[in-house]
Amino acid sequence: MDFQAFREKWTPEIEAYLNQHVNSEVTVANFNEVMAYSVMAGGKRLRPLLFLATIDSLGLPIGQTELRIACGIELIHTYSLIHDDLPAMDNDDYRRGRLTSHKKFDEASAILAGDALLPMGLSWISASQNWQMVQVMADAIGPNGMAGGQYLDIMTTNNPKYEHDQAVAKQMEALKTGCLIEASVKLGSLYGDASDVQDQKLMTFAKNFGQAFQIYDDLVDISESTAEAGKGTHKDEAQGKNNVLTVLGKSKSQTILKELIDQGQSAVNEYPVLVGMLDLLTKVL
Ligand code: IPE
Ligand code: IPE
Ligand code: MG
Ligand code: MG
Ligand code: MG
Repeated sequence: MDFQAFREKWTPEIEAYLNQHVNSEVTVANFNEVMAYSVMAGGKRLRPLLFLATIDSLGLPIGQTELRIACGIELIHTYSLIHDDLPAMDNDDYRRGRLTSHKKFDEASAILAGDALLPMGLSWISASQNWQMVQVMADAIGPNGMAGGQYLDIMTTNNPKYEHDQAVAKQMEALKTGCLIEASVKLGSLYGDASDVQDQKLMTFAKNFGQAFQIYDDLVDISESTAEAGKGTHKDEAQGKNNVLTVLGKSKSQTILKELIDQGQSAVNEYPVLVGMLDLLTKVL
């Protein structure tokens, strides 16, 4: 099976699982609606697909437990987006084509929806009955992972000291975005009981994917903002973000992105679904 077919088969299952369980497992009136609003806003579901594609590559079947773990990762990702958009962070009014949580509801509801999605995600991952998977995820989103990366993002924003600092920009991106992507694959490797050799290949793939993904995301942001009629502003630049794209410029960033995609793909050439996932990122080359 190629990635396209894999995605078409499993995305609807992910959507259905999320929709059903976020609504039924949150028993506080209205809170389930606030949480489901962001979870069901139509993301690409790349992180749950990465987990499922990893275990599929290792020859495991996918059932309800595997979907619960995969969707747990998506709950955590959604928490990170709700908080990322808050006025104190990136102050964005739109996400996935609709109003952000704090715009649709209010700031307190958005903060709390994020606060609730994070532990709910960890709880779903614990359906694996594998404490190591829970620990890997907790570490990936903690101070030396996503939260630390988000701190670096905010700390370097509008800070002239970091305008040319490629090393800090790379570290920031590896942490804020790379860690959760790597963890999605690592959870699959642990769940599928990969051999050391398989794990090494999978994690080389994941590391390259993680770094590539933030550069891809930032390149998408410029092509989208340039496409908006008459606007022509690059939001990250306007906000004073210091990331790989703003530090190195578009063409160097594209060269780095291409290298990361190639390296990631050659690590997993025996797993076509994973190779195909990296092909997605060639859209901005
Ligand atoms: C956006 O992630 C935020 C980053 C970490 C770059 P995605 O592009 O995966 O967001 P959705 O889930 O598809 O909306
Ligand atoms: C988001 O990075 C990273 C996390 C949410 C952890 P960005 O701030 O670049 O993502 P977008 O552009 O808002 O999706
Ligand atoms: Mg941000
Ligand atoms: Mg943002
Ligand atoms: Mg972005």
